Amino acid sequence: MHKLAIQGGNRLNGEVRISGAKNAALPILCASLLTPDSLHLDNVPELNDVATMRKLLQQMGVKIEQSAGQLVLSAADIDKPEAPYDMVKTMRAAILVLGPLVTRFGEALVSLPGGCAIGSRPVDLHIKGLQAMGAEIHIEHGYIHARAKRLKGARIFFDLVSVTGTENLMMAAVLADGVTVLENAAREPEVVDLAQCLIAMGARIEGAGSDTISIAGVEKLHGASHRIMPDRIESGTFLVAATAAGGDITLTDARADILDNVLEKLHEAGAVIQVAGSTINLKMNRRPRAVNLRTAPYPAFPTDMQAQFMAMNTIAEGSAMVVETIFENRFMHVQELRRLGAQIDIEGNTAVIKGCAQLEGATIMATDLRASACLVIAGLVAQGETVVDRIYHLDRGYEHIEAKLSVLGARIRRVK
Ligand code: EPZ
Repeated sequence: MHKLAIQGGNRLNGEVRISGAKNAALPILCASLLTPDSLHLDNVPELNDVATMRKLLQQMGVKIEQSAGQLVLSAADIDKPEAPYDMVKTMRAAILVLGPLVTRFGEALVSLPGGCAIGSRPVDLHIKGLQAMGAEIHIEHGYIHARAKRLKGARIFFDLVSVTGTENLMMAAVLADGVTVLENAAREPEVVDLAQCLIAMGARIEGAGSDTISIAGVEKLHGASHRIMPDRIESGTFLVAATAAGGDITLTDARADILDNVLEKLHEAGAVIQVAGSTINLKMNRRPRAVNLRTAPYPAFPTDMQAQFMAMNTIAEGSAMVVETIFENRFMHVQELRRLGAQIDIEGNTAVIKGCAQLEGATIMATDLRASACLVIAGLVAQGETVVDRIYHLDRGYEHIEAKLSVLGARIRRVK
């Protein structure tokens, strides 16, 4: 079990390059299933989740060549349209093979993802949408068995905004017979990145990025090249870390236009931010002010940034209220922060954080991906040494985070 040992108290200064977005790369890797031709991807982040997805696709029969952040995927023929439990349980995003497999091969056997630390995370909307498009679905022994001669276009209304639900059904619709309209669709930038890749492959999609996406099915998709967009959550994580610890950092290969909600909150906390093309500079020379947060689907404040901001709020001036409206159990980091001396009260999906002058280092445990980023930020500002355990959660979504933070001046090392 790897751990991170962090000596708190250093400011963060310097430049860090932002990697490709995990939550764009995962659906886009699955898009390779939609064509027999080769899909060339660039700027693919080297993350455990991406490695898991690669393994899953290769197990199905997809040929994958890799060199650094470049992948070439060819799904000429699949011998096993299956996603087994042992793969899906470690990475829920494996559900994203369902739509592509059914629409291209007419059949899929995908394990129901288990819940995870942050919530039960059902996939009922994915299944309902496929049924609306004519798929015959049986759920038995923990597996989704889906079959369809050819999916038909349909009008699908999402009761809840679902990012991977939107992505799964958008991919299912690109080879369906007729037009599919997704209403109350997710507007996340990663949905737009997937749509752009699919359009490059010959799909006919309008409205990606809005809450109504229409897809006119075509007979066949061809190969294409696509560069994965920068990771807005990794960007936000480094910016919050510098706001909490103080300093002067510059993100490169980043995109500010998809971070309005996060930049606005950092400005409120007292950070000075300058954007120039694909660089974002942040200066922080004061104790952060506490900021209230309410998570909601894009373009509102992202749930994936809630834990990181909470770490900043624990040492901010004043009190803050954080409301988590997306997942039912995304406060797992709170009890770990309390071990460092944070003053946080929870009432249902609302946490009230009273900023204190100083956190004290201690040994704490990561529970999920973004919670682990929160604990690293807390370790950067706590007095003395903080050891964060179970950081395999962190490696799922952050490329070489301790190396990037060390370059910025943090005293952080991985201990086996
Ligand atoms: C995506 O998860 C992201 N993962 C999550 O990022 C992110 O937190 C989440 O969207 C919200 O932005 C990927 O893109 C791979 P949802 P997803 O479907 O698609 C409920 C990270 O840290 N729901 O938008 O699984 C669900 O329970 C990860 O990188 C249903 O009820 O989330 C949740 O309450 C964590 N039925 C809400 O909708 C369904 O069929 C939003 O979930 C689907 C979802």
